[in-house]
Amino acid sequence: MAEVKLTVNGKRVTRHVPDETLLVEFLREELRLTGTHVGCDTSQCGACTVHVDGMAVKSCTMLAASASGSEVTTIEGLANGGLHPMQKAFNDNHGLQCGFCTPGMIMTAVDMVRRYKASGERLDEEAIRHELEGNICRCTGYHNIVKSIQQAAGEM
Ligand code: FES
Ligand code: FES
Repeated sequence: MAEVKLTVNGKRVTRHVPDETLLVEFLREELRLTGTHVGCDTSQCGACTVHVDGMAVKSCTMLAASASGSEVTTIEGLANGGLHPMQKAFNDNHGLQCGFCTPGMIMTAVDMVRRYKASGERLDEEAIRHELEGNICRCTGYHNIVKSIQQAAGEM
Protein backbone atom coordinates (compact mmCIF):
# COMPACT_ATOMS: atom_id res chain seq x y z
CA MET A 1 0.00 0.00 0.00
CA ALA A 2 1.11 3.57 -0.66
CA GLU A 3 0.29 6.64 1.40
CA VAL A 4 -0.88 9.36 -0.99
CA LYS A 5 -1.09 12.94 0.21
CA LEU A 6 -2.48 15.44 -2.25
CA THR A 7 -4.08 18.85 -2.30
CA VAL A 8 -7.06 18.41 -4.61
CA ASN A 9 -9.07 21.46 -5.59
CA GLY A 10 -7.64 23.26 -2.56
CA LYS A 11 -8.40 20.52 -0.02
CA ARG A 12 -5.78 18.29 1.57
CA VAL A 13 -6.46 14.58 1.33
CA THR A 14 -4.57 11.54 2.55
CA ARG A 15 -5.45 7.98 1.55
CA HIS A 16 -3.76 4.58 1.65
CA VAL A 17 -4.19 2.85 -1.69
CA PRO A 18 -2.60 -0.08 -3.55
CA ASP A 19 0.73 0.90 -5.09
CA GLU A 20 -0.59 0.48 -8.64
CA THR A 21 -3.52 2.89 -8.19
CA LEU A 22 -3.61 5.37 -11.05
CA LEU A 23 -4.21 9.03 -10.35
CA VAL A 24 -7.47 8.89 -12.30
CA GLU A 25 -8.66 5.96 -10.19
CA PHE A 26 -7.71 7.84 -7.03
CA LEU A 27 -9.70 10.89 -8.12
CA ARG A 28 -12.76 9.00 -9.31
CA GLU A 29 -12.97 6.13 -6.86
CA GLU A 30 -11.39 7.45 -3.65
CA LEU A 31 -12.56 11.07 -3.93
CA ARG A 32 -15.66 10.56 -6.12
CA LEU A 33 -14.54 13.34 -8.45
CA THR A 34 -16.13 11.74 -11.47
CA GLY A 35 -15.86 14.75 -13.78
CA THR A 36 -12.47 13.34 -14.80
CA HIS A 37 -13.31 10.67 -17.37
CA VAL A 38 -11.65 7.51 -18.62
CA GLY A 39 -11.96 7.06 -22.36
CA CYS A 40 -9.11 4.76 -23.28
CA ASP A 41 -6.74 4.02 -20.40
CA THR A 42 -3.89 4.01 -22.89
CA SER A 43 -2.87 7.68 -22.90
CA GLN A 44 -4.55 8.52 -26.20
CA CYS A 45 -7.91 10.24 -25.66
CA GLY A 46 -7.17 12.96 -23.08
CA ALA A 47 -10.54 12.57 -21.31
CA CYS A 48 -8.67 12.06 -18.03
CA THR A 49 -6.66 15.31 -18.19
CA VAL A 50 -6.20 17.19 -14.91
CA HIS A 51 -3.67 19.73 -13.71
CA VAL A 52 -0.81 18.54 -11.52
CA ASP A 53 1.11 21.48 -10.08
CA GLY A 54 -0.47 23.64 -12.76
CA MET A 55 0.41 21.48 -15.76
CA ALA A 56 -2.01 19.39 -17.82
CA VAL A 57 -1.40 15.68 -17.21
CA LYS A 58 -3.24 12.61 -18.43
CA SER A 59 -4.17 11.12 -15.10
CA CYS A 60 -4.38 7.59 -16.52
CA THR A 61 -0.64 7.74 -17.13
CA MET A 62 0.42 8.66 -13.60
CA LEU A 63 0.38 6.65 -10.41
CA ALA A 64 -1.38 8.32 -7.51
CA ALA A 65 1.74 7.62 -5.43
CA SER A 66 3.88 9.49 -7.99
CA ALA A 67 1.65 12.53 -7.62
CA SER A 68 1.87 12.50 -3.82
CA GLY A 69 2.82 15.92 -2.49
CA SER A 70 1.36 17.69 -5.52
CA GLU A 71 -1.50 20.09 -6.03
CA VAL A 72 -4.14 18.66 -8.32
CA THR A 73 -6.97 20.55 -9.97
CA THR A 74 -9.85 18.72 -11.61
CA ILE A 75 -12.73 20.10 -13.65
CA GLU A 76 -14.72 20.33 -10.38
CA GLY A 77 -12.12 22.75 -9.00
CA LEU A 78 -11.85 25.03 -12.01
CA ALA A 79 -14.90 27.18 -11.38
CA ASN A 80 -14.28 29.77 -8.72
CA GLY A 81 -17.52 31.41 -7.66
CA GLY A 82 -18.79 31.18 -11.26
CA LEU A 83 -17.80 29.43 -14.46
CA HIS A 84 -14.16 29.67 -15.50
CA PRO A 85 -13.83 31.70 -18.74
CA MET A 86 -12.97 28.46 -20.58
CA GLN A 87 -16.12 26.75 -19.31
CA LYS A 88 -18.19 29.79 -20.27
CA ALA A 89 -16.60 29.87 -23.74
CA PHE A 90 -17.42 26.19 -24.37
CA ASN A 91 -20.98 26.96 -23.34
CA ASP A 92 -21.20 30.12 -25.47
CA ASN A 93 -19.79 28.45 -28.59
CA HIS A 94 -21.49 25.08 -28.24
CA GLY A 95 -18.06 23.48 -27.93
CA LEU A 96 -19.50 20.14 -26.89
CA GLN A 97 -22.13 17.62 -27.82
CA CYS A 98 -22.16 14.51 -25.60
CA GLY A 99 -19.70 16.17 -23.21
CA PHE A 100 -17.60 13.08 -22.55
CA CYS A 101 -14.36 14.66 -23.78
CA THR A 102 -15.19 18.10 -22.42
CA PRO A 103 -13.58 18.04 -18.95
CA GLY A 104 -10.29 16.89 -20.46
CA MET A 105 -10.59 19.36 -23.34
CA ILE A 106 -11.14 22.22 -20.93
CA MET A 107 -8.24 21.27 -18.64
CA THR A 108 -5.94 20.94 -21.68
CA ALA A 109 -7.20 24.25 -23.08
CA VAL A 110 -6.65 26.17 -19.84
CA ASP A 111 -3.08 24.88 -19.63
CA MET A 112 -2.55 25.72 -23.32
CA VAL A 113 -3.71 29.32 -22.97
CA ARG A 114 -1.65 29.86 -19.82
CA ARG A 115 1.50 28.51 -21.48
CA TYR A 116 1.08 30.63 -24.60
CA LYS A 117 0.35 33.74 -22.56
CA ALA A 118 3.44 33.10 -20.40
CA SER A 119 5.68 32.65 -23.45
CA GLY A 120 4.15 35.46 -25.49
CA GLU A 121 3.67 33.10 -28.45
CA ARG A 122 0.63 33.59 -30.65
CA LEU A 123 -2.10 31.03 -30.07
CA ASP A 124 -3.70 30.95 -33.51
CA GLU A 125 -6.08 28.34 -34.90
CA GLU A 126 -3.27 26.18 -36.23
CA ALA A 127 -1.51 26.19 -32.85
CA ILE A 128 -4.76 25.31 -31.04
CA ARG A 129 -5.44 22.39 -33.39
CA HIS A 130 -1.85 21.17 -32.94
CA GLU A 131 -2.10 21.47 -29.15
CA LEU A 132 -5.32 19.44 -29.14
CA GLU A 133 -3.74 16.41 -30.79
CA GLY A 134 -3.78 14.56 -27.45
CA ASN A 135 -7.50 15.09 -26.89
CA ILE A 136 -10.00 13.15 -28.95
CA CYS A 137 -13.58 14.24 -29.53
CA ARG A 138 -15.90 11.84 -31.32
CA CYS A 139 -18.78 14.30 -31.73
CA THR A 140 -17.98 17.89 -32.56
CA GLY A 141 -15.52 17.95 -35.44
CA TYR A 142 -13.43 20.28 -33.24
CA HIS A 143 -14.54 23.48 -34.99
CA ASN A 144 -16.51 24.86 -32.05
CA ILE A 145 -13.91 23.65 -29.58
CA VAL A 146 -11.31 25.77 -31.38
CA LYS A 147 -13.70 28.76 -31.38
CA SER A 148 -14.27 28.27 -27.65
CA ILE A 149 -10.55 28.29 -26.90
CA GLN A 150 -10.05 31.39 -29.05
CA GLN A 151 -12.78 33.20 -27.10
CA ALA A 152 -11.41 32.17 -23.71
CA ALA A 153 -7.86 33.09 -24.71
CA GLY A 154 -9.08 36.65 -25.12
CA GLU A 155 -10.67 36.65 -21.68
CA MET A 156 -8.22 34.77 -19.48
S1 FES B 1 -8.25 7.81 -20.35
FE1 FES B 1 -6.35 8.83 -20.13
S2 FES B 1 -5.80 9.40 -22.15
FE2 FES B 1 -7.67 8.26 -22.40
S1 FES C 1 -18.43 16.13 -27.21
FE1 FES C 1 -18.74 13.98 -27.39
S2 FES C 1 -16.72 13.18 -27.41
FE2 FES C 1 -16.45 15.32 -27.50
